[in-house]
Amino acid sequence: MGEPSADPSSSSPRTHSQPYTISMIPQTPEGITIYLNHYRPFRLKMLELSPEAFLTTHSTASSFLQSTWESRLLNPLGRTFFATNSETNKSEILSSLTLWRNAPNSINWEITALYTLPSARRQGIAAALIKSAEDYAVQQMRSEAEGEPEREEFCILSLAVRKKGNNVAKVTKFYEKVGFFIVGSENEQNDQGGVVWFEKKVGILRRKNRRIRPRGMKYNSAI
Ligand SMILES: CC(C)(COP(=O)(O)OP(=O)(O)OC[C@H]1O[C@@H](n2cnc3c(N)ncnc32)[C@H](O)[C@@H]1OP(=O)(O)O)[C@@H](O)C(=O)NCCC(=O)NCCS
Repeated sequence: MGEPSADPSSSSPRTHSQPYTISMIPQTPEGITIYLNHYRPFRLKMLELSPEAFLTTHSTASSFLQSTWESRLLNPLGRTFFATNSETNKSEILSSLTLWRNAPNSINWEITALYTLPSARRQGIAAALIKSAEDYAVQQMRSEAEGEPEREEFCILSLAVRKKGNNVAKVTKFYEKVGFFIVGSENEQNDQGGVVWFEKKVGILRRKNRRIRPRGMKYNSAI
């Protein structure tokens, strides 16, 4: 295992890797401790270091009460996945994302707040997190479908990339690499810079009577 390169987020191909473990923060008292003590500072760090990538600002998130963080973790429609180094500092978060479901039983899910520490980039960690989130969504829908009449269906994952800053080309390359396609864009609104929408259909499921969210529907998920 080599040392991280001097500029890990440059456009050169990956040259090193570190062992990592992907986990989902449980919606339990233990999970609340992880969320408050490890995820919260990680979230604030990403907002500080990559403000162009997120709609939420560092100052806004810094002012949230502990109860706001707790209720976000405990929201039944949200799940937060994170990666840690499995050999060295097992509690330091290297990368994370949050997966939101549009509504109970919906086939529509959204990925938000994806971030990898600069020192951990280009090692496939964000791609592995996306895969974990996809697997979770598919597994949820499969278990809900047990015993129902058969019909082919997909799980639809979507996400929005901000147009602001110079992030778009790099992030587009990443999402296309993990199977997402651009499906639309919105222009600037309220100085937010507009967004490009990506989608990916995952897994063929057998369900009935699912509702599909109209594109561009907003979630109350950004804290
Ligand atoms: C986008 C981001 C999450 C990727 O995380 P990561 O852990 O480095 O991603 P992975 O290692 O799984 O995938 C890297 C792939 O993405 C693409 N990519 C990532 N950074 C790139 C860069 N600077 N230039 C070109 N391609 C890049 C490449 O296809 C790369 O594959 P490769 O290393 O084999 O060439 C990370 O760069 C980041 O946190 N950026 C700042 C926050 C952000 O923009 N979040 C997304 C909000 S929508």
